[in-house]
Amino acid sequence: MPADVNRQIILAARPVGYPKESDFQLVETPIPQPQHGEVLVKTLWLSLDPYQRGRMSAARSYAPSLEIGEVIVGGVVGRVIASQNPRFAIGDIVEGRLGWQEYALSDGHDLRKVDPQLAPISTALGVLGMPGMTAYFGLLEIGRPKPGDTVVVSAAAGAVGQVVGQIARLMNCRVVGTAGTPEKIEYIVNELGFDVGINYKTEDLEQALSNACPDGVDVYFDNVGGPVTDAVLNHLAPYARVVICGQISQYNLEKPDLGPRNLRALLTNQARMEGFLVFQFANRYQEGIQRIARWIREGKIKYKEDVVEGLENAPRAFIGLFEGKNFGKLLVKVADE
Ligand SMILES: NC(=O)c1ccc[n+]([C@@H]2O[C@H](COP(=O)([O-])OP(=O)(O)OC[C@H]3O[C@@H](n4cnc5c(N)ncnc54)[C@H](OP(=O)(O)O)[C@@H]3O)[C@@H](O)[C@H]2O)c1
Repeated sequence: MPADVNRQIILAARPVGYPKESDFQLVETPIPQPQHGEVLVKTLWLSLDPYQRGRMSAARSYAPSLEIGEVIVGGVVGRVIASQNPRFAIGDIVEGRLGWQEYALSDGHDLRKVDPQLAPISTALGVLGMPGMTAYFGLLEIGRPKPGDTVVVSAAAGAVGQVVGQIARLMNCRVVGTAGTPEKIEYIVNELGFDVGINYKTEDLEQALSNACPDGVDVYFDNVGGPVTDAVLNHLAPYARVVICGQISQYNLEKPDLGPRNLRALLTNQARMEGFLVFQFANRYQEGIQRIARWIREGKIKYKEDVVEGLENAPRAFIGLFEGKNFGKLLVKVADE
């Protein structure tokens, strides 16, 4: 059992607008000891995700807000280093919502064992974890792509977007992605096989979408909301499906943005727009994990991780999510495997 301290990052203040480093505080507490039924997990990998911004706000949402002084919520892959729970042995690799800290106690109910033979264990937070499941079920169950469809995905080089685009390719769709840097555009087209990449920061979106989607957009997988979504809605094809996965352009607004105002596009195209939360598919995660793992083994799906070293760098890296600084699934390497 280690004798040193547990470093944790807590919410110091609720962010107003974009989060700042002063909204977070690094604190040291004693490493807890597992009691009957509990396990102690040492964090190896921490996942940084846009939804964590919502938890820092007091606004009502689908999950409770963090209180000031609480450890920031976050997915972790770690190693069991002490166990009073018969389901877990020392050395097991597990994934769970254990938060931004180096050690965490769990009663095991929210932990899943990670199979290190399947893929590198960090993928349990990315392509084989929550973002991968979001892409898989959101696209296939809500977007329902058909061969020959044109699929547009926003934040296409991110954790969710890169998987959405590649699965859409596997479904024999034409795939168009939007992203915010030339490197991301180059990556999604030349590495991931998207048909077209559009840099929404530098290109005329309307013109670029007209060129990229001459027959209209059958499925729009929306990760961002805001002006990108307004533009895509103007290009819907008849019977289009608009999958509302995320609205990252809205998460730091002090006043909610109104709109979109072009919902007539749904009316005239008899289109459907549907929001979803990945947890609604929790009882099917094994299907998604096994299928994506097979595609990775067959070389049909690639994944990119953006790794930041050290728990103390989590706040800065998290803030970067809202500036497009991450390139792929954003992870903090908290300790060596
Ligand atoms: N519904 C669900 O259950 C569920 C589950 C997981 C994730 N999500 C949502 O899915 C989206 C993607 O999540 P992720 O984990 O894959 O993150 P990510 O794409 O890896 O990272 C976020 C990316 O969003 C883009 N972005 C940031 N601010 C933007 C803005 N104002 N306008 C347009 N793009 C902006 C940036 O890329 P660029 O360089 O391209 O700007 C940034 O890299 C998020 O909205 C997240 O909340 C939903």
